[in-house]
Amino acid sequence: FIRSLSSSAALHAAIKHVTIIGGGLMGAGIAQVAASTGHSVVLVDTSEDILKKSAKGIESSLKRVAKKKFAEKPEDGEAFIQKILKNISTSTDAASVVQGTDLVVEAIVENLKVKQDLFGALDKAAPEHTIFASNTSSLPIADIASSTARLDRFGGLHFFNPVPMMKLVEDTPGFIVNRLLVPYMLEAVRLHERGHGSKEDIDVAMKLGAGYPMGPFELLDYVGLDTSKFIIDGWHEKDPDNPLFAPSPLLNKLVAEGKLGKKTGEGFYKHK
Ligand code: CAA
Ligand code: NAD
Repeated sequence: FIRSLSSSAALHAAIKHVTIIGGGLMGAGIAQVAASTGHSVVLVDTSEDILKKSAKGIESSLKRVAKKKFAEKPEDGEAFIQKILKNISTSTDAASVVQGTDLVVEAIVENLKVKQDLFGALDKAAPEHTIFASNTSSLPIADIASSTARLDRFGGLHFFNPVPMMKLVEDTPGFIVNRLLVPYMLEAVRLHERGHGSKEDIDVAMKLGAGYPMGPFELLDYVGLDTSKFIIDGWHEKDPDNPLFAPSPLLNKLVAEGKLGKKTGEGFYKHK
């Protein structure tokens, strides 16, 4: 959506200022992409420390983009990075930031109540024309939007991790990719729980046999085990008899131990 806006002059003029709420894996990537397409971006999170980490992540991601884009002329890469970084500022005060924003993209924790509370508060602070969007992986947009009075200006903008590399943004009801991908990843965990294969063997099998860039355990670590658990628990609650949504004791144990994947340094695997 944001990317396609860059190719449409009229729409680009309509959305100039974008607020991203949540500076984690997804929010930082969305801020980077929005800034790269010329939007003025404010990234919001709960503490300055988190925002510093987000800014560092954006800079190192931009370096990777620049390294390839300016392989022939590396000296132009730094100017490219600085130009994009200039479009991004940070804040811990969402309510004041949204007073001057055209589009809010929310990428906070995958929890309906927390998202509803956030949007309920933002609805009072944002101007009438502001469009709200959620990057939720699994929650119905109508349920999140119900805490606001702008149902006609509320949508789903579902980006994929890593945002700067993945070319899809979904806004179809039902979220096709996750409806297939999350049960597949959980089925890999169940296969391992039943003793049918080591994590390593299952990952190698899917990479070599199906051509996937990451195996399911690598991908779970990359997505975040907490986020994966929130998704599967939410679906299980809605449809408890569906075996595709059954909880996994191993996933639950790792989350309880704070092993959330790449972002905390350990999940199914250890990460440096
Ligand atoms: N920012 C910028 N560039 C990046 C990047 C990032 N965060 N991550 C990777 N890249 C680029 C770099 O240019 C890198 O080249 P360099 O070595 O020069 O840095 C290039 O990608 C290749 O990366 P790697 O060699 O490190 O590894 P790779 O070839 O395996 O590619 C990958 C990395 C693109 C992440 C690939 O492994 C992949 O596509 N993995 C699957 C990702 C996936 O399935 N995502 C969906 C998750 S589900 C979801 O998002 C929905 C949900 O709601 C949960
Ligand atoms: P994350 O844990 O990396 O980051 C979430 C960030 O939100 C944290 O920095 C946290 O401090 C912040 N936050 C929490 N409550 C907040 C609030 N009230 N106000 C401001 N900031 C707040 O999570 P993530 O992986 O970036 O996921 C964010 C959203 O995107 C979730 O809804 C998730 O389901 C969805 N999503 C995740 C992926 C993925 O692969 N990880 C892919 C697509 C969509």
